[in-house]
Amino acid sequence: MPVQRLEIGAFGGPEVLRVVRDTALPVPGPGEVRIRVEASSLAFTDTLIRRNLYPGLKPSLPLTLGYDIVGRIDEVGPDVAQWHIGDRVADLVQVGGNTTHLVRPAASLVAVPKGLDAIRVEPLILTYMTAYQALFFEGDAKAGDALLIYGASGAVGQAALDLCRAFGVRAVGVASAKHEDAVARMGATFVAYDRPDASATLDRLSRDAKGFKVILDAARSEALSSVLARLAPDGRFVALGFSAAFRAAHRAGNARPGLLAALRFAFDFLRIQWLSSRSGTARRVIFYDISKRRARHPEWFRADLSMLFTLLEQGRISPHIQRVFGLGEAIEAHRLMDAGQVEGRFVLDLAPPRKLRPRSPAPSVARAPAPGVGG
Ligand SMILES: NC(=O)c1ccc[n+]([C@@H]2O[C@H](COP(=O)([O-])OP(=O)(O)OC[C@H]3O[C@@H](n4cnc5c(N)ncnc54)[C@H](OP(=O)(O)O)[C@@H]3O)[C@@H](O)[C@H]2O)c1
Repeated sequence: MPVQRLEIGAFGGPEVLRVVRDTALPVPGPGEVRIRVEASSLAFTDTLIRRNLYPGLKPSLPLTLGYDIVGRIDEVGPDVAQWHIGDRVADLVQVGGNTTHLVRPAASLVAVPKGLDAIRVEPLILTYMTAYQALFFEGDAKAGDALLIYGASGAVGQAALDLCRAFGVRAVGVASAKHEDAVARMGATFVAYDRPDASATLDRLSRDAKGFKVILDAARSEALSSVLARLAPDGRFVALGFSAAFRAAHRAGNARPGLLAALRFAFDFLRIQWLSSRSGTARRVIFYDISKRRARHPEWFRADLSMLFTLLEQGRISPHIQRVFGLGEAIEAHRLMDAGQVEGRFVLDLAPPRKLRPRSPAPSVARAPAPGVGG
């Protein structure tokens, strides 16, 4: 079968996933190209879409998952001048990326440098872009600043720590005690949220730093007032995710956060939105959303992604890929993501079979020495 993809026919747990085979290749229309996908996302965000819990998205079923893609153009539709067969490209698609073949508008693609491995490029599209824009655009982080990152062992957190190293930013990373090594390896000061002295330790580190310049929050667990009290007078709090509520629900054996957690979640979200709208010029509260930011500023997305590709080419960043999965293993990947068993990123390998690539354990994650200060 020419096309294979990861589809859901109903919203729910990993059991709703199935590998579907189509006999016909999709055909690009005017202004479109078809991409032979080489790698796509297996990220926490995909699990939210699988459960129909992703804010602002109302997908219809059946649905192919996959938030981003990297691959090669294998057919060009009419009226496309800028792309040719064989060009390597990347795109953020929200849904539909977990497939071997995909048609996309030519105008939405970003060129991928020839020599880069698709498996190492893929985490840059959703995950590193989120960390980069949240830290350096919304957070306005600079070399020498002190940062606090909640969710530091996860996909976005590990990307943020990698970028902090590349740009000479000092980071404190918060995750559960079992992930101490993953956070410390990235050169960050580690704080375990599941130890009784976590809050006091974070207060002390904040006092030592005279307040954190940026707090990046991918987990949203501590009371918002305690977190905001750790900001520098001109600091920025950038919220982007609510992992903690989903982790807690999973630990309790529930598919989704219960009523109390959902109310707290909604209250936090509304409070962050309200504080964002009335932030003055000094201390600011921001909710980052990659899709909204891209829709508003597609040229920034293109420029930032190209810059991330350059950092990867130069060996200044090195995505922490915990494991690479094939389509037939995607259900296992989703189970592990639901259970919070991810350090860094999982990646879905969709390359044609002739490419031999080690699946598990992951490819080498050897890191370049910490680069000097500045971009
Ligand atoms: N707004 C956007 O544009 C955007 C873009 C990408 C992702 N996201 C969202 O960002 C969030 C994180 O994504 P991800 O892919 O990095 O997820 P992930 O890989 O599952 O990582 C989640 C992280 O949260 C940590 N965590 C869980 N409970 C915590 C707690 N109580 N206190 C502190 N940390 C806690 C986990 O640590 P342990 O494993 O040690 O518990 C882990 O480091 C998700 O909600 C995702 O949907 C948003």
